[in-house]
Amino acid sequence: TPGIRPLIAGNWKMNGNARSAHELAEALRAAGPSLDASLLVCPPFLHVSLVASALLGTSVAVGGQDCHAKVSGAHTGDISAPMLRDAGATHVILGHSERRADHGETSAQVMEKAEAALAAGLTPVICVGETEAQRVAGEHEAVVGAQLEQSIPLGFITSGGIVAYEPVWAIGTGRTPTEDDIAAMHDFMRRELVNSWGPTASVTRLLYGGSVKPSNATAILALSNVDGALVGGASLVAADFLAIARAV
Ligand code: G3P
Repeated sequence: TPGIRPLIAGNWKMNGNARSAHELAEALRAAGPSLDASLLVCPPFLHVSLVASALLGTSVAVGGQDCHAKVSGAHTGDISAPMLRDAGATHVILGHSERRADHGETSAQVMEKAEAALAAGLTPVICVGETEAQRVAGEHEAVVGAQLEQSIPLGFITSGGIVAYEPVWAIGTGRTPTEDDIAAMHDFMRRELVNSWGPTASVTRLLYGGSVKPSNATAILALSNVDGALVGGASLVAADFLAIARAV
């Protein structure tokens, strides 16, 4: 989209250890300046701090994969947005379909988390996407439209919040929607956001996620209203992640 610098984001999910996280960060350190895209990596909570330290002074941003809606308190096992910020994160992925499926997260909860992220000065990356059954039933636009409407809080668009379209059936499967289907969904999301939030939403970054790899990145990243990618598996291999970034 004109006026938007593409973003290639890596969601490391629950992978790696301190050593591999550090190695991956080191491999990305040097790459930033030569790219036409911005880079973001989202390690497991435990490695956010060390990855942020390794990437300090570079243009590669670091994010969490979730956060709690509250700032602090009796929430065993949870991590708050201010904690992420304190650890060096600038972004946080919210509402990933794996959180929605594994932890029953609803769009209403995603909105509360996004509010907490914004209040802490983090840029939320809100994920939306239909299941395969919903796509087959022709409900994909209705599903994604409702997720956008119910999970995006006031202030998100004006603060540079990011939206990622990740069809659930394309995540980790090696399958992707057709290029036409990706473009149609991204055009739909752009229209919905501009309708709801006004012209500021014409420069909201819309990422595509789901089986993005070096071999399909060039075609996907060239599509209408695709402003970057949210990469899972391929973000764990520095050469692949950078190849995707170079496809911009
Ligand atoms: O958040 C990114 C992710 O869900 C896509 O995963 O492995 O299909 O690239 P993958």
